[in-house]
Amino acid sequence: MLDRPTTVTGPQLDERALAASLSGFHLIGGRFVAAKSGKTFAVVNPATGEEIGRAAEGDAADVAEAVEVADAAQKSWAKIAARKRGQLVGQCAALLREHVEELARLIALETGKALRTESRVEANTIADIFEFYGGLGGELKGESVPFAPNVLSVTVREPLGVVGAIIPWNVPMLLMALKVAPALVAGNTVVVKSAEEAPLTVLRVCELLNRILPPGCYNMLSGFGPECGAPLVEHPKVRKVTFTGSAEVGRIVSKAAAQKLIPVTLELGGKSPMLVFADCDFEKTVAGALTSMRFTRQGQSCTAASRIYVERPIFDRFVTAMAERVDAMVMGDPLDEKTDIGTIISTEQFAKVQRYIDTGLGTAGATGRACAAMPSDPALKKGLFIRPYIFTGLPDDSPLVQDEIFGPVTCIFPFDDVEAVLAAANGTEFGLAASVWTNNLKVGLDLAHRIEAGLVQINQNLVVQANLSYGGVKSSGLGKEASLESMLEHFMHKKTIMVNYG
Ligand code: NAI
Ligand code: MG
Repeated sequence: MLDRPTTVTGPQLDERALAASLSGFHLIGGRFVAAKSGKTFAVVNPATGEEIGRAAEGDAADVAEAVEVADAAQKSWAKIAARKRGQLVGQCAALLREHVEELARLIALETGKALRTESRVEANTIADIFEFYGGLGGELKGESVPFAPNVLSVTVREPLGVVGAIIPWNVPMLLMALKVAPALVAGNTVVVKSAEEAPLTVLRVCELLNRILPPGCYNMLSGFGPECGAPLVEHPKVRKVTFTGSAEVGRIVSKAAAQKLIPVTLELGGKSPMLVFADCDFEKTVAGALTSMRFTRQGQSCTAASRIYVERPIFDRFVTAMAERVDAMVMGDPLDEKTDIGTIISTEQFAKVQRYIDTGLGTAGATGRACAAMPSDPALKKGLFIRPYIFTGLPDDSPLVQDEIFGPVTCIFPFDDVEAVLAAANGTEFGLAASVWTNNLKVGLDLAHRIEAGLVQINQNLVVQANLSYGGVKSSGLGKEASLESMLEHFMHKKTIMVNYG
């Protein structure tokens, strides 16, 4: 057991009490510890504006301790047989499943994501991710290489050492799981730096899994980017960095990793196009547009279909049907089962999204339809709620069309010509995901090959799943996550061993 003062050992369904009890700690070497500076910062419920807890404010001194501990632990973790490491990671999945409801409530409180539509889904998915990787311990294989008579030449895969993982706030448990589970199975140990907006739920995940994993394998720091994230990337004993967040910070992280000549994986968001042809299954596609745009996550998704191109014969009908559907969604208390749409994460993001909406509304020729009613509950008066917006009539070079807004704002355009819509789809700096909706597979597959993106789906648009190789091209990032290949290629290196027996 860890030494955090608590009286509850099973799932803790009082999310406020849990948030309070997690306050003020990093988790290093299996123990809760305060920041060496003694500093903490506020964690705020975005639905009410109230402080729900505090997070330890880490800096280079905390990073140094966590990395040393992780480095020492890695030596013995790597000696555990690979399948046994996998079994332990699989046991983590089972424990996470027991705590799904607890984690879902806590993340809803901390991030404003609705319990039914988002938070519970995320909590279940992380268990899936750990379960998936837990089964892959036996797959860390190398090759034998024909070289010369009387020479046996083989490659073996080895872990990299200590992995530094930096995560954002939008799906923090999931994005952490995509890094931690494969890193551990591969024989690395991990130091995670959580996002300043969402440090508590991921800390709870780390606490739970430290009941199973040997101390020091999975460590968690909270703190700000330049003060805590940067020293983690720069620490000489961190041998791999994996980052999810903005392209801007991704470039900084990549530069620092390049100075150390260490590998880096970057997942940096997108501006994902959705292409809708007149021959699509109309109802399925309208429903698909709602899920593709991740309206239930307030659009705070790197794969959000924030540009929707609809073939002209069905354009008006599509916009109307989509607006009606979004209008029927319920915005409200994230912890209420009736709620479809919760809040934006922070006042900073709120202001950013609002600026884009104002720009759109002020653009000549553009129309912005605001959908779904604001919540009426006075307790949510200070909540960071933004009505979903559907824009039409925007020019291609509008910032709403080019930038990742990370809010409930999508732009819809009519199109007449496949080549023109393909050029538009490829016309941003991003290349993460895309979807094509048509009953003509020839058209769909041709576009799937020609769209610049790491993931293209036809007639569906799922979020990240275990076993689905995931990651972008262009400014959307480097490297893949969520698959066997991503573990082998990004968390291990291959050593060649040759034996001359002649
Ligand atoms: P961010 O990129 O600033 O933060 C992501 C993580 O990086 C956080 O843990 C942060 O503390 C850390 N970080 C910041 N500066 C750092 C540095 N110099 N060195 C090391 N780590 C550092 O993202 P932010 O400010 O939360 O959101 C801004 C925009 O980024 C969003 O509006 C959205 O467009 C995009 N974004 C994309 C995400 C994705 O899933 N790809 C997730 C979150 C944000
Ligand atoms: Mg930032």
